Amino acid sequence: MCPKVVKWCGLIVAAIVAAGFSTTTAQRAEIDVVRQRQQDMKAMAAAAKNIDAMFKGTLPYDAKAFKAATETIRAHSGEKLSVLFEGSVTAEGSKASAGIEAERPKFDKLAADLGTYAAALSVAADRNPDVLALDMRMQGSDAKMGGPLAKRNPDVPDPKTMPAEHAFHLMLQICTSCHAKFRVLAE
Ligand code: HEC
Repeated sequence: MCPKVVKWCGLIVAAIVAAGFSTTTAQRAEIDVVRQRQQDMKAMAAAAKNIDAMFKGTLPYDAKAFKAATETIRAHSGEKLSVLFEGSVTAEGSKASAGIEAERPKFDKLAADLGTYAAALSVAADRNPDVLALDMRMQGSDAKMGGPLAKRNPDVPDPKTMPAEHAFHLMLQICTSCHAKFRVLAE
């Protein structure tokens, strides 16, 4: 018949084939991203557990190990964290909430704050190569302003000027805040 129609038909077939391929590739990429997110989160959880154990004294303080743990968290925070939740946030096997797409700036801010606190803790390890010094410890007034139930005012505390233990507790609150807001609960 009309060669024009044939041409169009060919284009449509090509487009459908291409769409089919790109879907499978996209799906594969999606699975990889979810796996990466969860791996990174698990690495951060293991690192936080180590820092916690050193503060509690159940693990001997070792500045190198302390720093390595803070650097693990820092490396997985900020933009590194944010980009893993770009595009299609919700995916098979993921607990990420669709709310991330709707409240992107809030999500990115939590990711960035996490990095700020981790960096402050990393510096604390440099400053205390031998022992977990007393000034790394949370004092009475810090506990009052940064206890687990305290409302965090993001503009007030500067993690570099507070005891490391206090910065650590506030950092854990960032993990918790983000999960409460942007992670869907397991059924
Ligand atoms: C900016 C938001 C955000 C921050 C900050 C954050 N998380 Fe997460 N976390 C998530 C989301 C969203 C998921 C769900 C990811 C998924 O299943 O795709 C998650 C999942 C996890 C998981 C489960 C991983 C798995 O195997 O399914 C652990 C453990 C975890 N986070 C630990 C932490 C720790 C520890 C911190 C702080 C040091 C932290 N997270 C900081 C958003 C965040």
